[in-house]
Amino acid sequence: MLPETLLCLVNAALIQAATASLSLNAILSLNSQDIPSPPSFSLPAAQNLTITVAYCSSETVSTRFFVTNSTTVDDPGPDGGTDVYEITVNQGLGTFSAPFLDGGVLAIDGTLSDDFSFEIAASDSGPMHEVLATFPLLGDTTSNQALLFSPPFDPPIFIDPSYPNYTLPGPSLSSPLPPDSSPNFTLLIAPTSSQTLTSLPQTACMMASQTSSGNIANESLWLRDEDGWRTQWLMAGLSPQTNYTAYVIQDSQKLSGPMYFVTKSAVFACPLAAFLPYCPGVTYAIPLPPPDNSELSIYDSTNLPSTISDTLTTYFTNFTTTLTTQACGRDYYSPLQTCADCQRAYFRWLCSVSFPRCGEQSPSTTTTMSSSSIGTTASTGLPSPTSALQAQTTSSVPRNPTFSPLNMTYSVLMPCIETCQAADRACPNFLGFACPLARFNANQSYGVGYIDGAEPNQQGLGIPGQAQDQWGNVWCNFV
Ligand SMILES: *[C@@H]1O[C@H](CO)[C@@H](O)[C@H](O)[C@H]1NC(C)=O
Ligand SMILES: *[C@@H]1O[C@H](CO)[C@@H](O)[C@H](O)[C@H]1NC(C)=O
Ligand SMILES: *[C@@H]1O[C@H](CO)[C@@H](O)[C@H](O)[C@H]1NC(C)=O
Ligand SMILES: *[C@@H]1O[C@H](CO)[C@@H](O)[C@H](O)[C@H]1NC(C)=O
Ligand SMILES: *[C@@H]1O[C@H](CO)[C@@H](O)[C@H](O)[C@H]1NC(C)=O
Ligand SMILES: *[C@@H]1O[C@H](CO)[C@@H](O)[C@H](O)[C@H]1NC(C)=O
Ligand SMILES: *[C@@H]1O[C@H](CO)[C@@H](O)[C@H](O)[C@H]1NC(C)=O
Ligand SMILES: *[C@@H]1O[C@H](CO)[C@@H](O)[C@H](O)[C@H]1NC(C)=O
Ligand SMILES: *[C@@H]1O[C@H](CO)[C@@H](O)[C@H](O)[C@H]1NC(C)=O
Repeated sequence: MLPETLLCLVNAALIQAATASLSLNAILSLNSQDIPSPPSFSLPAAQNLTITVAYCSSETVSTRFFVTNSTTVDDPGPDGGTDVYEITVNQGLGTFSAPFLDGGVLAIDGTLSDDFSFEIAASDSGPMHEVLATFPLLGDTTSNQALLFSPPFDPPIFIDPSYPNYTLPGPSLSSPLPPDSSPNFTLLIAPTSSQTLTSLPQTACMMASQTSSGNIANESLWLRDEDGWRTQWLMAGLSPQTNYTAYVIQDSQKLSGPMYFVTKSAVFACPLAAFLPYCPGVTYAIPLPPPDNSELSIYDSTNLPSTISDTLTTYFTNFTTTLTTQACGRDYYSPLQTCADCQRAYFRWLCSVSFPRCGEQSPSTTTTMSSSSIGTTASTGLPSPTSALQAQTTSSVPRNPTFSPLNMTYSVLMPCIETCQAADRACPNFLGFACPLARFNANQSYGVGYIDGAEPNQQGLGIPGQAQDQWGNVWCNFV
């Protein structure tokens, strides 16, 4: 039996067997050539250390990664031992968390092929490499463009006014100032048919090495809704009626996706609208002729016909005036809702009905419908819904009279009725705001039964339970 001090010295010597070390909260990029000998790294100490391994190349490898947080093991490997763990790598990403009170060792087991590259990281604040739970968001597409959004960050903080000076904001005529710092998001898209992206390791470094289809016509930060700021991309140069796969890479470390979207057919003529500060959620195709004087071929606040924007802002202003005849902030009409909530919900509803959205049937619905008369979605087995489309002919009068009739046929994707119901719930009764009922004719002006059920009080019972999904289907318009 060795004296205790000597035992400690021996252990210290063993730990130093790992010649390389991994610093806390830093990413180490490696390839087959720069693996240290022995192929192991000492790990920093932390109460809860998260170690991640991310493959950055697509070779299939038989390499395995072992860690130990024990000071008595210097070469963790497949033989196991006390506190020896394997980091299992799934689709190119491995994650392991445990207390590493005295540090530890990460060892690479097996041989690496010549071109193999990967990253390892150890962090005391959650994984540095990660597949994010939030997907990129689709605004809309035309036959060759797409408006896409990163996952959100920095949600806005609403500070309600208070009585007696209960002053509600007017319609926003300019967009709020973006936050000082934002994650560095990059977008990657490719036609889904080639299957290249989804078969690769699902890691940020792998995707960052791929080339994207189309070209970025505009990239900016946009506060689209209360979820927060997002990077908004206007992609151009895409092919009509094509299913694309999209990923968003955050800070070269984290990956969001895959998300799918489909471009419209070549005959689809409605241009996109975006950058409207009073209707920040209007990021979709609207029934207007092709815009003049627009480098980006979209409508924004500089070229949208002023009859549309002026009428809308008058509605906003008049509504706010009427709403504040109530003693907002003193007399409560609801335990849950305030005048400010009502105003926000009304603005969203007004935007969704004032800006008709052009749409087309989602290809997956049409294929399902033709392959089986009943039609079921593969994942749920539930009947697959068709989008809330309404055909417009050259003689149809648009729902919003400030949109002049278009000399073409197109389909309108109707607003989700939940947008109306949210305003109905949030606003005081005296305003007389009411939504049509599903059992009468609500489906002639709204998409009904997609997010919530068709009957009242069936929240979350709709099929498919959302306005759009990450597979490229869009059911109704939700601003
Ligand atoms: C090593 O990890 C195990 C399992 O998470 C934990 O129970 C143990 O306390 C850790 N030991 C040290 C020294 O951090
Ligand atoms: C350690 O961190 C991981 C990743 O953030 C987390 O999932 C886990 O719950 C944490 N464990 C403890 C004991 O806090
Ligand atoms: C009431 O609030 C508004 C907006 O917060 C502010 O601009 C205005 O000065 C306030 N008026 C008074 C009398 O406090
Ligand atoms: C954002 O990330 C891209 C790709 O990793 C990089 O080329 C670019 O320089 C980064 N931008 C900033 C502002 O860090
Ligand atoms: C993107 O388009 C908006 C609206 O047209 C414009 O204000 C902004 O400067 C553009 N950004 C870039 C980077 O081109
Ligand atoms: C807004 O209110 C003004 C003054 O009451 C009225 O003249 C106008 O018609 C209203 N506009 C709308 C769009 O309701
Ligand atoms: C796009 O492709 C994906 C993957 O094949 C598929 O799951 C999805 O349903 C397709 N979307 C549409 C709208 O066809
Ligand atoms: C509508 O389009 C048709 C065919 O392109 C054309 O003949 C007709 O004159 C147009 N009508 C108007 C009112 O512009
Ligand atoms: C609306 O619903 C009724 C009955 O639920 C149905 O018969 C009708 O076809 C629907 N109309 C539209 C436009 O979807």
